[in-house]
Amino acid sequence: MSEDGIISAKCKMLEIFSKLDDSDLEPIEKWICSQSYKKDLENKKALRSSENLLKKIGDSIKKIVPFEAVMPTETIIPPVVGDQADCNKYNTCHVDEFLYDEDQVEVLVKKGKVKKYYCLDCNSRNIEKLTFISHSMSRQTLQYIFRVLLPKDLEDKQLLDIGSRLGTVLYAAYYLTNASKIVGIEMNKECCEVQEKIINQYSMDIDRIKVIHSDVMDRPDVVECSDVFIINVFDFFVDVEKHKELWYFFKTHFKNGSYLVVNRSMAETLGSLDMFEEFMDWLIICKPYQLENEIYFDVEDFSELYLYTINKK
Ligand SMILES: C[S@@+](CC[C@H](N)C(=O)[O-])C[C@H]1O[C@@H](n2cnc3c(N)ncnc32)[C@H](O)[C@@H]1O
Repeated sequence: MSEDGIISAKCKMLEIFSKLDDSDLEPIEKWICSQSYKKDLENKKALRSSENLLKKIGDSIKKIVPFEAVMPTETIIPPVVGDQADCNKYNTCHVDEFLYDEDQVEVLVKKGKVKKYYCLDCNSRNIEKLTFISHSMSRQTLQYIFRVLLPKDLEDKQLLDIGSRLGTVLYAAYYLTNASKIVGIEMNKECCEVQEKIINQYSMDIDRIKVIHSDVMDRPDVVECSDVFIINVFDFFVDVEKHKELWYFFKTHFKNGSYLVVNRSMAETLGSLDMFEEFMDWLIICKPYQLENEIYFDVEDFSELYLYTINKK
């Protein structure tokens, strides 16, 4: 790094330190002087390199899916209940967060490939921000799930991503966990083909990672032998009736003691379907298992992620 670069780094550190009072500064001083920050730094660098690998996979996916990452055979309809019920084709824009992070979206906006606003009347300055909807989890969200939320040791466990779409959860689980089996189940055939291609292209071990093309409700056998479930909200993909059926199906087939990770609280999801009370005893909310790794993340960004265990007693 050049001398100017070092000055700039020191300047950024001073900016942070200047906002802390003495009692906050003390543990930070200790952390630096005792050199224990070095191990944290190594871990941070390892996380960055795994993020780069996921980014590379994202770039490979971009080459084989349409720009909005919605397949020609898909019918994606804005939900009529829940926190996304105000979405419609005029105010909503599909941008896949795994393929395009915030910086990449800014580049797309500058190039004019993505618009941020829509007009409420015509030819006026009465504009409104578009709602950006992603049907995949971002790379950082996935890192947080596997490095903070879930237990570190998933050996002998089967992880199931229900609705695996482009396979993003599967690739992150493959590189960030020691789960013995990583399975994706997805009802859209074209999405399954994308996942197969990526698994092949990156020479992943097909004894450890696989994709099943099916409606999850036709495969209770796969669900019953899974230990960790990841569910990214289904709102845009199923109607209210099917959504309810899915949760009754999960209630019957999820194993006692299994883990469930979701990107919206179950109280909200099941509440909007008018069925929370029936499920209250079935779910136990958990604290993150790898709290020591929170240091690598801006935890406020992940407040929508929830971990539960299944209680069938
Ligand atoms: C929001 S996307 C989740 C993508 C991925 N899990 C992630 O987080 O990046 C939901 C996916 O679930 C799939 N899906 C919805 N209902 C399903 C069902 N009954 N069986 C299998 N897949 C389903 C949809 O086709 C869609 O690709």
